[in-house]
Amino acid sequence: MRFRDWWIWFAAAACVWPPVWAMKPGEAAPDLALRDRSGTEVRLSAYRQKKHVLLLTQAPAAAVLDDTCRRLAALDAVVLFLAGDTEANRKFLEGAPSATALIDSGGVVRRVLPGLVLTGPDLAGFVGRWQSGKAVFKAACARCHGEEGDLHICEDVKPLEGIGKRLTPVQIRERLRIGEVNDREVLIRGQIFNRQEVEEVIVYVASL
Ligand code: HEC
Repeated sequence: MRFRDWWIWFAAAACVWPPVWAMKPGEAAPDLALRDRSGTEVRLSAYRQKKHVLLLTQAPAAAVLDDTCRRLAALDAVVLFLAGDTEANRKFLEGAPSATALIDSGGVVRRVLPGLVLTGPDLAGFVGRWQSGKAVFKAACARCHGEEGDLHICEDVKPLEGIGKRLTPVQIRERLRIGEVNDREVLIRGQIFNRQEVEEVIVYVASL
């Protein structure tokens, strides 16, 4: 096969096998039948307006699960698993044998981590960065962009909603108009932020 043909094959395959999952950030999550930590079947919608959900494709070992649940309770989030016993779930698992997804309490998929089932401190860190970013956004950005990033601020600028689908985190950072202050702090639109807050707000903005 010539090199050029190989690329055509590759492009076609990428369309047939979407990069890993049927869940896309920014879209409503389907109301799957899942299992909670005790193995009881629950619908994803049962957590709507109550908790953020961390959806894992596999249940970790009991001790790891206990530790993970403790950490997430502090973050107002629960862990649920995808069991392979319904047709819809089997389809999901075929596409992504391992993945972690964060679905917010509004039922919207916010972050998807293909290829990895995070647990313990790693999972808490994954949720924690998004939540810290949300807090920074609410405090510093929402007055112009809207709490959900849905305000139209200028004629020629799209709302931030869905920005993660059109821009990479690096491109989002470039558009923040960051001014250097010192090695710990930066300036965005007249306000001082520490560098960690900037990283966190980028994680959050990418999930809007
Ligand atoms: C005082 C109002 C104001 C505040 C506060 C503000 N922005 Fe903006 N933002 C704007 C305006 C106006 C634009 C579009 C024009 C421009 O870039 O100046 C913009 C553009 C952006 C863009 C680029 C959008 C695109 O599609 O190109 C991003 C990303 C962004 N802002 C993120 C943030 C974040 C994150 C914060 C909080 C740390 C923030 N903004 C705070 C007014 C604001």
